[in-house]
Amino acid sequence: MSSFGKVGVIGGGLMGSGIVEVLARAGADVVNVEVSAEAAEAARGRVSHSLRRAVSRGKLEQSDADAVLERIRFVDSLDDLADRDLVVEAASEDEETKLELFRRVGALLDSDEAILASNTSSIPIVKLGAVSGRPDRVMGVHFFNPAPVMKLVELIPSLTTSEQTLERVRGWVSEELGKQPIDATDRAGFIVNSLLVPYLLSAIRMYEAGYASAADIDRGMVLGCGHPMGPLALSDLIGLDTLKAIGESMYEEFKEPLYSPPPLLDRMVDAGLLGQKTGHGFYPYD
Ligand code: 3HC
Repeated sequence: MSSFGKVGVIGGGLMGSGIVEVLARAGADVVNVEVSAEAAEAARGRVSHSLRRAVSRGKLEQSDADAVLERIRFVDSLDDLADRDLVVEAASEDEETKLELFRRVGALLDSDEAILASNTSSIPIVKLGAVSGRPDRVMGVHFFNPAPVMKLVELIPSLTTSEQTLERVRGWVSEELGKQPIDATDRAGFIVNSLLVPYLLSAIRMYEAGYASAADIDRGMVLGCGHPMGPLALSDLIGLDTLKAIGESMYEEFKEPLYSPPPLLDRMVDAGLLGQKTGHGFYPYD
């Protein structure tokens, strides 16, 4: 049983469903909230698919996968979060959406001790805390995609987060989730995206300029630098809409041209070519 026995996750998309799986596999009772019953079913499908993959690779017993799924409720109402000890928000990377969620969920949590965390990669944590009514119990907890595989979690206290909140979450992440936390400051992009996003956007600019093919740009970084995947394939994995939103938030904060999404990225998002999740980005997917 986790020290946060009852946890909630808002959003069951790519990141949200991965986080749900991580928390349920760590033994927590999880409520996953989506915007509609249909979206909640889709989230269940994503978690089930991922668990099936773990079973088929011999990483998990079928009975354990069944027990993990039984610990998760997929719902479409934020009210189901009222009794949670910790809620991780993993909604789309949009400031207004997140502010509204923190306003509503901050007010409906029963326990004064309950903590609200955001998986945002670029939206100021301090703003989310300010509208929540519990600014000392709000912080950033940033997972990486695919969440069940990637070991890193960035911890981001804001100016108003209490030391006690930070240390409770740090213990939970490292001892119960088995992840490795690093500490970052509440600035758009934190540590990893501050370095990763300009690199990915530079690769898109290189491709846009006709400098090299997508395959050769990616092969260059895989074979030349030992990266597990090239920057265009990684952009497809992250989701081009998410990458664009993160770049925009970072550009908004620092006015650094390298963070500004190139026109090709804008056009691909407008066209619905969002990467793996829509079956087409820089590459086609089944
Ligand atoms: N969900 C769950 N598990 C997955 C998975 C997924 N989507 N994709 C792969 N896996 C698992 C496989 O089951 C396998 O597990 P096993 O070793 O226990 O059997 C393991 O990962 C390796 O998978 P594969 O053999 O199929 O494929 P690869 O060896 O090519 O690894 C990868 C796939 C793990 C995605 C690897 O290519 C990789 O590490 N890529 C880089 C990912 C990365 O950089 N992520 C960070 C993105 S930035 C971010 O998330 C921040 C955000 O704010 C934008």
